[in-house]
Amino acid sequence: MPALLEVSGLHAFYGETEILHGIDFAVETGGVTALLGANGAGKTTTLRAICGMVSTAGEVIFAGRPIAGWRTEDIARRGIGHVPDGRGTFLELSVEDNLRLGAISRRDRDIGADIERMFGYFPKLRERLRQQAGTLSGGEQQMLAIARALLSRPKLLLLDEPS
Ligand SMILES: Nc1ncnc2c1ncn2[C@@H]1O[C@H](COP(=O)(O)OP(=O)(O)OP(=O)(O)O)[C@@H](O)[C@H]1O
Ligand SMILES: [Mg+2]
Repeated sequence: MPALLEVSGLHAFYGETEILHGIDFAVETGGVTALLGANGAGKTTTLRAICGMVSTAGEVIFAGRPIAGWRTEDIARRGIGHVPDGRGTFLELSVEDNLRLGAISRRDRDIGADIERMFGYFPKLRERLRQQAGTLSGGEQQMLAIARALLSRPKLLLLDEPS
C-alpha cells in the first residue's frame, strides 16, 4: 500500500529565512510517525508546511495527490487535521461551539454520534460543554483541540506537542 503522506525535498521559509532544507519522510496508512528534534529544529514548521501555512518548495503527496501550494482550508478539507502547538482553541467560544467548528467542513450534519465518541475519549469535555474554552485548564484545552480536530474526520492527524 502506498504511503498516506510522502514528503520529499521539502524546504520551508519564513520570509527570506530558510528553515527546512530539503527533508524527506513518509507516513504509512494506519501508521504513526514521530518527529524528534531539538528546540528550534523545525518540527512545528514541518507541520505548518504540510498544512500550507508557510511558503515551501518541494513535494508533498497526500493520499496520492500533490498538495504543495494548496490553500490551508483545501488541505484540511482533503483530510489533514492539525492540532497546533498552543492548541489553537477559540478561547471566547464554549467547548460545544469549538467542537461544532471542528466539523464545519463536513458535508454530513450528523455529528452527534461523533461528539459522543469524543466524550468517550475525553469525559471531561462532556462535563464542561457550556464552559468557555479559555477557562479550561491547559490539559483540558488540549483534549478539546484533539477532539475538535478529530471531528473533521481526518485521514491524517498532525499533533504538535500533544501531551
Ligand atoms: N514566524 C517565524 N518567523 C521567523 N522565524 C521563525 C518563525 N517561526 C519559527 N521560526 C524559526 O524557525 C526555526 C524552527 O522553529 P520551529 O518552531 O519549527 O521549531 P520546533 O522544532 O517546533 O521547536 P520546539 O521544539 O521548540 O517547538 C526556529 O529557529 C525559529 O526561531
Ligand atoms: Mg514546535
